[in-house]
Order: sequence, then structure tokens, then C-alpha cells
Amino acid sequence: MEKRRAVVTATGSYFPPKIVPNSFFEGYLDTNDEWIRTRTGISERHYVEKGVASSDLAVEACKRLLKKRGIGPEEIDGIVFGTVTPDMMYPSSACLLQDKLGATNAYGFDLSAGCCGFVFSYTTGAMMVESGRYDKVLVVGADVCTTFLDMNDRNTCILFGDGAGAVLLEPSGKDEGMLDTIQHVDGSGGKFLYMAGGGSLNPTSAETVEQNLHTVHQEGREVFKHAIMKMADVAVEVVEKNGFSLEDVDLFVPHQANIRIIESVAKRMKLPKEKVIINIDKFGNTTAATIPSCLDQAVETGRLKKGDLVVIASFGAGFTWGSALIRW
Ligand SMILES: CC(C)(COP(=O)(O)OP(=O)(O)OC[C@H]1O[C@@H](n2cnc3c(N)ncnc32)[C@H](O)[C@@H]1OP(=O)(O)O)[C@@H](O)C(=O)NCCC(=O)NCCS
Repeated sequence: MEKRRAVVTATGSYFPPKIVPNSFFEGYLDTNDEWIRTRTGISERHYVEKGVASSDLAVEACKRLLKKRGIGPEEIDGIVFGTVTPDMMYPSSACLLQDKLGATNAYGFDLSAGCCGFVFSYTTGAMMVESGRYDKVLVVGADVCTTFLDMNDRNTCILFGDGAGAVLLEPSGKDEGMLDTIQHVDGSGGKFLYMAGGGSLNPTSAETVEQNLHTVHQEGREVFKHAIMKMADVAVEVVEKNGFSLEDVDLFVPHQANIRIIESVAKRMKLPKEKVIINIDKFGNTTAATIPSCLDQAVETGRLKKGDLVVIASFGAGFTWGSALIRW
């Protein structure tokens, strides 16, 4: 008997309407459009208005997904919500999304894995479906990255945007869907990318605000170096371990942190440009939302078709990194 596998049956994405071009930063920081575009590949990003949280972006992405699939929210039985910017400490954004969406028969939880929020959530959701216990799992990646931006730090504030993406996983008896997945963490890399305030170590206080502990701290060069090596290695590993060659890959959907990281990883994988999905130019790094929004856009534009061999891969704070091999 064929193994019960998890296939993506619908996708959705949503970005808040406010567009912030690179010229916004030129107005008050020592930076310019040319530096940002050539060093990161980003031209613009979307920001939420005050009061809009991760679950609000997620609910829009999920509504679009449900409409495409033609089912009601009550059919969903699981929600895995990848995010590092949940609406609040608790309840989880998965609970808030469940309520806003009306997914009355779903249980769910948040998954915190930095920029690997979607890859880890997708893997978890797929295993829930493979287990036989769940039939319709929503896997969401949504982040309001403006939550943690220090708008006076030119090294980081130009990089991130807000957005959400989602996929629906359902069972299949055929040899399709998630074929394999490889995930890693290495906590010794935590010191290179973190937000120290607001947790149990440094609960929010006047001092933590004064010390600027509620914004992202990143050693960009260190993260950059590790991201290229680890993303490429794990993506190649998941392909070759399953008896495929890199030439068999129809589409590579990498996390969107920096165009130079994406190009270096694609080069190490010997993939031509046509096989790599990129949306960082329009949206920046949206953390957990990058891969599901790219998948949605690839489906919508016809670049991703049934039967394609797809590799998703990411690297993020933790360090976390991972890759999944998917027969679409
Ligand atoms: C942050 C990042 C874009 C910086 O690009 P870089 O080419 O590595 O630049 P460097 O860090 O080497 O800095 C080069 C110079 O540019 C400066 N610089 C940084 N940001 C700048 C900006 N927005 N505008 C102009 N100059 C800038 C630096 O201050 C530095 O100046 P110095 O040499 O006088 O100190 C890049 O390291 C990166 O993308 N890192 C990974 C980010 C990431 O993936 N994060 C999320 C985890 S998934």
C-alpha cells in the first residue's frame, strides 16, 4: 500500500496595502536606493498600519486560500502558524486565527523558528496529515516584521517587510506531496540574530526599552555566510538522498533574505535563474511569509504546475535551517 502523503491543495497570500519604497529611508538615514537594491535586491516592502497584527494578515491569506479550494473554514482540522511576531505572548496567533476565520473544528498552535517558520511548520503539518489523524491542515507563515525593527539601524530596517502566506495540506495515496524533509537547529548561532527583550529573560520594563532590547540585533555578515552554506547543503542533500539529481528540480523556492544569498545558493545548486522563485524585490524579507507567498505567486502565474519537483529551503535565527522535497 502506498504511504499516506500530504499534498498542497491550495495556496493563498496577503500583503498589507501600504508600500514603502527605498527612497523612504534615504530621507533620514545614511543609505540610498542603489545600495539597498544592489546589496539586498529589495526595491520596496509592505508595512501594516498600526493595530494590524500577524493573525490579521494570516486571515486574509487563508480566506483567499479557502475560496480557491472552495471549502468552508469549518472543514479545517489543524492550524500550524509559523511566526516570530505573534499578536501577543498568548493566546497563540493560531487561536486568534482560528476564531477570526471561523475554523470551529480546528486545533492549532504557533511555531517559532525564525525565518524557518514556514519550512518547519510545513513539515509539521505534513506529518500531521501523514499520521492519518488530520485531513485538512492549514500551514501559515505570517509576520509583522515592523514589530521588531529599529528604524534607525540601517543594517536591518531596510531588510524586512510585513506579509502572510498559507498552504492547505490534504492526504493523498499517490507518490506526491512532501517526499522528504531535513531540518536542523544550532543554538550556538543564536548570538548572531536575536531580539532579547520581552521574554522571560528580559521581561519588558523601562530599562529594556531604554536598552533597545525590543528590536532585532543582527551580525549580517555572519548570518549571510552561514545562510548560503547551510541552505545550499541541506537543499542538495534532500534532493540527492531521494535519488534525484539537481537537474530534476523544476522549481527552487528559497527563503527571501537577500538576493545575493539566493543567487549564491542557486549557483551552488547549479540551477538556472528560470528555476528560482524570487519576490524579495517587492516585499523584502517577510520572515515566515516568504516561501508560502512565493508558492502562491508561482501557482497564480503558472510557474508551478501539478507534477513539478519542488525544493523549498530556508535559514534563519536560531540558527535554524531546513529543506523539503515536494512533488507538487
Ligand atoms: C545585512 C546585509 C544586507 C549587509 O550587507 P553586506 O554587503 O554584508 O554589508 P556589510 O555588513 O559587509 O557592510 C558593509 C558596509 O555597508 C554599510 N551598510 C549597512 N547597511 C547599509 C545601508 N542600508 N545603506 C548603506 N550602507 C549600509 C555597513 O555599515 C558597512 O559599512 P562599514 O564598512 O563602514 O562598516 C547582509 O549582510 C545580509 O543580507 N545578511 C543576512 C541577512 C539575513 O539573512 N537576515 C535574516 C535571517 S534569514
